[in-house]
Amino acid sequence: QTDSLVDGFGRHIHYLRMSVTDRCDFRCVYCMSENMQFLPREQILTLEEMLRLSQVFVSLGVRKLRLTGGEPLVRRNLMWLMEQLGELPAELVMTTNGSQLSRFATDLAGAGVSRLNISLDTLQPERFRQLTRTDRLEQVLKGIDAACNAGFKRIKLNTVVLKGRNDDEVPALVEFARQRGLDISFIEEMPLGHISEHARAETFCSSEELRERLSARYELLPTAERTGGPSRYYRMPDSESRIGFISPHSHNFCGDCNRVRLTAEGRLLLCLGNEHSLDLRALLRAGADDDALREAIIGSMAIKPERHHFNLDEEPQILRFMNMTGG
Ligand code: GTP
Ligand code: 5AD
Ligand code: SF4
Repeated sequence: QTDSLVDGFGRHIHYLRMSVTDRCDFRCVYCMSENMQFLPREQILTLEEMLRLSQVFVSLGVRKLRLTGGEPLVRRNLMWLMEQLGELPAELVMTTNGSQLSRFATDLAGAGVSRLNISLDTLQPERFRQLTRTDRLEQVLKGIDAACNAGFKRIKLNTVVLKGRNDDEVPALVEFARQRGLDISFIEEMPLGHISEHARAETFCSSEELRERLSARYELLPTAERTGGPSRYYRMPDSESRIGFISPHSHNFCGDCNRVRLTAEGRLLLCLGNEHSLDLRALLRAGADDDALREAIIGSMAIKPERHHFNLDEEPQILRFMNMTGG
């Protein structure tokens, strides 16, 4: 297969994360400010434009497409896009907040989505209200049940861990995952955009600390198994579930980065923690043909930065909120 996307540090890009909308039905405190302004419709790529770019990326060697948001499942007619993407020779996966899964889980699996990542930061309704600024925990739990019965190859939960807000729930979340045979990744919060809720340096909780705390309860066996993202996994001898850690602060993973991102407005973002980008929407809307798109994308590899530099003690350097890229 073609392998045309290689950056200046010799990293091969096989993975495209595509944000299909910046909108979301939640307002997670680490992701958005309370009164977010969303992009006007005409600035967002159409589903047809997203399909076309996906095809171009696959022709350049992308073998994994992850749809993100905002919340991808609030985008109207998304199922049309999913079914088209399901025909491409690439692994099709999605990251969702789970709120719409009761309705869409079966259709997603039917369209060819193999793995689903579902955010879940707490099992307590009051905390859920504080962390997501909505009261839909029940709906999310039903959505997870629906996903469990829909026939996905693998489901992973994502938990952003904030000291003093949900770090004491890590064992309960592991139990929740184990009971259902799901994987779970614990994530160190990244400072994107100005949030008002907490000082990020104060709620930082390192993966190392969590791993030590969990080791007191479970035998954690390191495994080299990867899913193509930054998560480093541990297995437990008595369970199908894997526990993962995503540690942008305590364990930099940029050295083996294999991915780029497409924002909902059609900006190809070469790194989550930097602003280097290529305006694919401008090219599309100026009538560029597929070869011109391919040439521009290949050219953009030269500006992919070596790594992110997040510093929790300073004001955020990246003012773009997480919902522009879905992580
Ligand atoms: P799989 O490995 O395919 O399961 O996906 P994933 O865990 O990489 O994707 P997911 O969308 O579930 O993202 C989980 C967390 O990883 C989010 O907080 C993302 O922001 C973070 N993440 C994924 N890729 C990168 C990256 O390239 N850089 C940084 N800093 N964070 C990333
Ligand atoms: N830091 C780390 N992870 C984040 N996510 C959203 N905002 C942040 C942040 N500031 C996570 C969500 C979701 C994934 C795509 O990114 O919880 O699971
Ligand atoms: Fe929505 Fe996901 Fe951001 Fe939460 S983290 S507000 S669910 S996009």
